[in-house]
Amino acid sequence: MQVLAVDHPLVAHKLTTLRDVRTDSPTFRRLADELVTLLAYEATRDVRVVEATVRTPLVPAQGVQLASPKPLVVPILRAGLGMLDGMTRLLPTAEVGFLGMIRDEGTLQAQTYATRLPDDLSGRQCYVLDPMLATGGTLAAAVKLLFDRGADDVTAICLLAAPEGLKYLDQACEGIAAPIRVVTAAIDSHLNEQGFIIPGLGDAGDRLYG
Ligand code: PRP
Repeated sequence: MQVLAVDHPLVAHKLTTLRDVRTDSPTFRRLADELVTLLAYEATRDVRVVEATVRTPLVPAQGVQLASPKPLVVPILRAGLGMLDGMTRLLPTAEVGFLGMIRDEGTLQAQTYATRLPDDLSGRQCYVLDPMLATGGTLAAAVKLLFDRGADDVTAICLLAAPEGLKYLDQACEGIAAPIRVVTAAIDSHLNEQGFIIPGLGDAGDRLYG
């Protein structure tokens, strides 16, 4: 599994404001949207393209276009929904599937309550959107589900990740030979006893949607 913590002053600036308890929901939503677009730029570095020729006003020019099948973007409801526009701004032709997952506040186990994905993901590159990678249970279940349906390349985009969650995800995906990447704005210090990322930014779902 590859992990990339994006090192860029604009990413750090926007993340700092997201962390700030004084940041209200409208500002939080706008900043999360902008931050995802910056992360998506790095996360799509390996998006598949094929050579293409276009005609400029003067001559033919060689270039590239996105390959088929088109990428699948999967926000994990509910908080991942706040990342969807920022992602599709860069990949407007991507297909979008949805996964509804909730983490039990007591056991910290992830449960899937909604799945709306293509049945066959053979040959598909998938981009999973979830702001928080805490224990890693949610993302591990989501990634496994995508590979079970045939995906052959999965990149998760997170605003924040905890070291414990990255380790768990890496172990959970040990048997999977296909590429798995996590792109995040920062890897924080640790999880507290309630499974919150420290220093973190609180509950992303609540801060996005109240
Ligand atoms: C949060 C967060 C992740 C998950 C991370 O969602 O958005 O999906 O918890 O936790 P984990 O890495 O320990 O599994 P939550 O369950 O609060 O649901 P919500 O998005 O509906 O708020």
